[in-house]
Amino acid sequence: MNLRQATADDLLGMQNCNLHNLPENYQLKYYLYHIATWPQLSFVAEDDNGRIVGYVLAKMDEEPGQVAHGHITSLSVMRNYRRLGLAEKLMKLSQRAMVETFNAEYASLHVRKNNTAAFSLYKDNLKFSIHEVEKGYYADGEDAYDMRLTFRK
Ligand code: ACO
Repeated sequence: MNLRQATADDLLGMQNCNLHNLPENYQLKYYLYHIATWPQLSFVAEDDNGRIVGYVLAKMDEEPGQVAHGHITSLSVMRNYRRLGLAEKLMKLSQRAMVETFNAEYASLHVRKNNTAAFSLYKDNLKFSIHEVEKGYYADGEDAYDMRLTFRK
């Protein structure tokens, strides 16, 4: 297993992994936008044959008047590779780059209220907390937790 920064060559592999694991899907140009703009923040896990089995897709939110903060757009790991610690490692690589490269104050993300696996990862392992509940955030009407992790510097 190899964890490394994502490159433009990984776009199809990341999209394939996303399509297998999440209902929130994106056009290839959206992956490319992340990797071209913030190449330091997205990472992949590849198996011994070079197949992408996990990824974290992340960006910076740099709105004028707001403190710089990172945002996890999407995270997933293929079923056969779960509970090996890959997601936690991918998240930590991205979080570190948010601080070291962009001096981010915090990281944010949205997660479905009923997604207990991801919620445990964020809350228990990575120490994110719930910032607010966004009612009907998802296309099917499910609520999202808007979660944040403030970085200690
Ligand atoms: N049930 C309960 N807790 C879980 C589970 C589970 N099935 N899976 C992971 N966790 C929690 C545990 O606290 C675990 O720590 P532990 O093993 O020490 O108990 C912790 O997460 C870390 O587990 P990892 O092995 O690093 O997680 P994994 O590589 O299996 O990936 C993920 C977790 C990404 C949530 C995976 O299950 C997945 O791809 N799910 C489908 C897609 C998804 O839900 N993505 C997140 C959407 S939110 C977003 O993208 C911003």
